Amino acid sequence: MHKANLDWGNLSFGYMKTNCHLEYYFKDGKWSEAKVVKDDILHLHMSSTCLHYGQEAFEGMKAFTHKDGKVTVFRADENARRMVKSAEKILMQPFPEAMFLDAVKQIVKLNKEYIPPYGKGASLYIRPLLIGVSGILGVRPSDDYLFVIFVSPVGPYFKEGLKPIDLYVEEEMKRAVPGGTGDAKVGGNYAASLRVSKKVKDLGYKEVLYLDAAHNRYLDESGPANFFGITKDKKYVTPKSESILPSITNKSLMTLAKEELGMAVEQRPVDVNEIFDFAEAGCCGTAAVITPVRSITYRDKKAIYTGDETGPVCSALYKKLTAIQLGDEEDKYGWNMEIPL
Ligand code: PLP
Ligand code: COI
Repeated sequence: MHKANLDWGNLSFGYMKTNCHLEYYFKDGKWSEAKVVKDDILHLHMSSTCLHYGQEAFEGMKAFTHKDGKVTVFRADENARRMVKSAEKILMQPFPEAMFLDAVKQIVKLNKEYIPPYGKGASLYIRPLLIGVSGILGVRPSDDYLFVIFVSPVGPYFKEGLKPIDLYVEEEMKRAVPGGTGDAKVGGNYAASLRVSKKVKDLGYKEVLYLDAAHNRYLDESGPANFFGITKDKKYVTPKSESILPSITNKSLMTLAKEELGMAVEQRPVDVNEIFDFAEAGCCGTAAVITPVRSITYRDKKAIYTGDETGPVCSALYKKLTAIQLGDEEDKYGWNMEIPL
C-alpha cells in the first residue's frame, strides 16, 4: 500500500493534516449523509452553542496496522456508546452508534496512507467531535448539530513513551465534581484542567493526580488518563468515582489483569494514602496507553515506585494490551474492529 512520506518512528502526539475529514449535520430532526471535506477549517455560526455554552463532546480511538497488513481499530463500539452518553449528559443530539462505527471505517479508509506501518510504535488517532451549531443566544440546547470525524498519525502522548513519569496530587484545584460532567468526555472538563496542568508542570511534574472534590481524600484520575495502582500482593486497584471518565483502556486492563495475569481487581474508592503502599502505579488511556508512574508527590511526601525502568506488572499489562491491538496475540475478547481497506 502506498504510504505518506513520514518519519513514522518519530511521530509525536499532534495534529497533522490528512486527505480529508467527514461532516454529518443534524437538521430538521435527522442526520445527513457523510460529506467528505478536504478543508480543515469549519464554517460555524458565531452564536453556536458549542462556542458559548460548551455543547461539545469528543472521543479518541486508535487504528493499528498488524504484521500481515490488516488494519483494526480498538474497541470502537465502546467509544460509540460513550459518545452517546456524553451527548445525553449535556443535552446534545446523540450521534447513532451504527453511524459512528461506519464513520470510523470510512475515515480510516479515506486516509489509509496515513496509517502508520506495523512496528513503528505509532498509530492513526481517530477524533470524532459533536457540537451544537444553532446560532441562538439564550442558554438552551442547540436544535442543530455537527458531527465531525478526522484522523492524525500519532506517536506516544508522553514523549517518554514507556518511561515512568512523576505525578503530583493536586488538592486545591478540581476538574470535575460529583453530579457534574466529569464522567462525560466534554470540552468543559478539559478547559477546567488546563490551569491545573500548567501548575503541576511549572512545579516540575509531568501530570496531575486529582483528588475527589467532595472529600479531598480519594483518588480520581490523572489529566488525560485513568489511574491504577498495583499493590505489593499484586492486586490491580483503580478508583471508582462518579467524576472520572470511564476509560476503555482501564476497562480492558481490568479484564487482562484478571483473566490473563490471574490478578485480583478492585475498582473502589482509593484513599490517597494508599499511594504509599503501592508497588507500582500507572496512567492509562487511548493516548497514554499505559504510562508507568515513577513517583507521586502528596503534600511533603513522595511515593517512589521505580527509577527509569517499568515495573513488572505494568510491563506485562502493556505487552498484553499492545499485542492484542497489533494482532500479535489472539483477539479473544473481540476488541478489534477490522477496517476493510
Ligand atoms: N480520562 C480522561 C480525562 C481522558 O481524557 C481519557 C482519554 O480518553 C481517559 C481518562 C482514558 O480513556 P480511554 O481509555 O477511553 O481513552
Ligand atoms: C485520548 O486518550 O483519546 C484522549 O482523548 C486524551 C487526551 C488527548 C485528551
